Amino acid sequence: MPYYLGLDIGTSGAKALLISAEGAPVASDTQEYPLSTPRPLWAEQDPADWWEGTVRATRNILEKSGIRAEEVAGVGLSGQMHGSVFLDGENNVLRPALLWCDQRTQAQCDWITAQVGRENLVKYISNPVLTGFTAPKIVWMREHEPDTYAKVAKVLLPKDYIRYKLTGVHATEVSDASGTALFDVAHRTWSQEVLDAAQIPRAWMPECAESVEITGRISAEAARATGLAAGTPVAGGGGDQAAGAVGSGIVETGIVSNIIGTSGVVFAYADQPATDPDLRVHTFCHAVPGKWHLMGVVLSAGGSLRWLRDTFFAGQPYDEFVPEAADVPPGAEGLIFLPYLTGERTPYPDANARGTFFGMTLRHTRAHFTRAVLEGVAFALNDTFQIFDALGIPMTEARTSGGGAKSPLWTQINADVTAREHVTLTVDEGPALGAALLAAVGTGAYPSVADACRAAIQPVARVAPHPDAHRAYGRYHAIYRALYPALRAQFAAVSEAAVLPQK
Ligand code: XUL
Repeated sequence: MPYYLGLDIGTSGAKALLISAEGAPVASDTQEYPLSTPRPLWAEQDPADWWEGTVRATRNILEKSGIRAEEVAGVGLSGQMHGSVFLDGENNVLRPALLWCDQRTQAQCDWITAQVGRENLVKYISNPVLTGFTAPKIVWMREHEPDTYAKVAKVLLPKDYIRYKLTGVHATEVSDASGTALFDVAHRTWSQEVLDAAQIPRAWMPECAESVEITGRISAEAARATGLAAGTPVAGGGGDQAAGAVGSGIVETGIVSNIIGTSGVVFAYADQPATDPDLRVHTFCHAVPGKWHLMGVVLSAGGSLRWLRDTFFAGQPYDEFVPEAADVPPGAEGLIFLPYLTGERTPYPDANARGTFFGMTLRHTRAHFTRAVLEGVAFALNDTFQIFDALGIPMTEARTSGGGAKSPLWTQINADVTAREHVTLTVDEGPALGAALLAAVGTGAYPSVADACRAAIQPVARVAPHPDAHRAYGRYHAIYRALYPALRAQFAAVSEAAVLPQK
């Protein structure tokens, strides 16, 4: 009987998930690795840690499940997007990878934008150039580490480095390539215009496939390391958002997702590469061949709650302190939280934006602070729902997943703030499930991604919005909205004041 393996190279760990031909999870394993912040706003990881985590997780699921390597009919890859792995001509990693949440590259973003011309960005790449994206990381290396830069021969995205380790092939696929700021999203190919403007050689970028295409096969060396069978096909897979969307069935018009992991993402399927004229949401290629998606990204969603827990609740389990917030009324009696703890992307692409509690009084307790964090993240996500509405994106069903969906209170708050029913799903295995399903489609087990999703994923519960709560949130969301413009200049000033002297 065939099985499919999904590998997700996340920010906190590498996950391996084995599914059956029907799309049911059979075994999974996650191996964590560290994230280093050598300076404020920097975020790096060692690609060797990703590989070690992948090897261990893969070995563990083969062992746990008792499934023979030959029964794994295909492997799909997923991973944190936008990161930059720099390889030399011998495929050695030249320095730690700069990650999606690294905010060091504002000057390089401004430079690329000026080179290309802001008005041309929509035409060439359908997106702005943002600090998290790959292109400004390459330019940063050229400016700050010229000796290392002189040795670069290839730039790979995180999951594509694992693809190289598994197959020996340099390749990527359209959904992850979309987040480099070097990719012509509308035409699903590298943008020679932007590569030229940023002075980045085309030869550094890997070949680009559709997400269901087979990009290579497990090499003899990788087979020895992982326990997989040499020759097993490896499908393109997807960036974690596109693959996660496949893993939630966001592959048809009208279905959107509200995913709360470390970051929070509102994601919509699109038949055409529609763009927001103000470029507040991203337009990327979907993992569904020939289709696109739009998404808004809140950088600290679950990350805000984790910060609250670690800072004020001594690392207590979430289910011990989050339910307390259910006794606080909607709007937390006037306490409002802006979740910009690591800067923000949607709707304000601003590396300087800061987390803020506004409206504190003597009345506010710990439970109010928890509620304010849950609501502030929901307001931030609702900004994207409202942008999608204004763009005329059809939204008939909102599916919720990720760690945040485990909290009934948070799901209710999201339904109330957005005035949309939120649906939870039978499986919540995230991007690894999507990657495994893409491998199943790529090896012919299903005729299409939508067919694979229909077989594997069903709605389980529907959470309806409460009209009274929605009315209360309307007032608070308006105040929330007014706070960022009022504080923007002070965010920039405080970021400058707080920069540590560089060693
Ligand atoms: C998407 C994004 C994050 C990362 C890490 O644009 O930046 O979702 O992929 O998960």
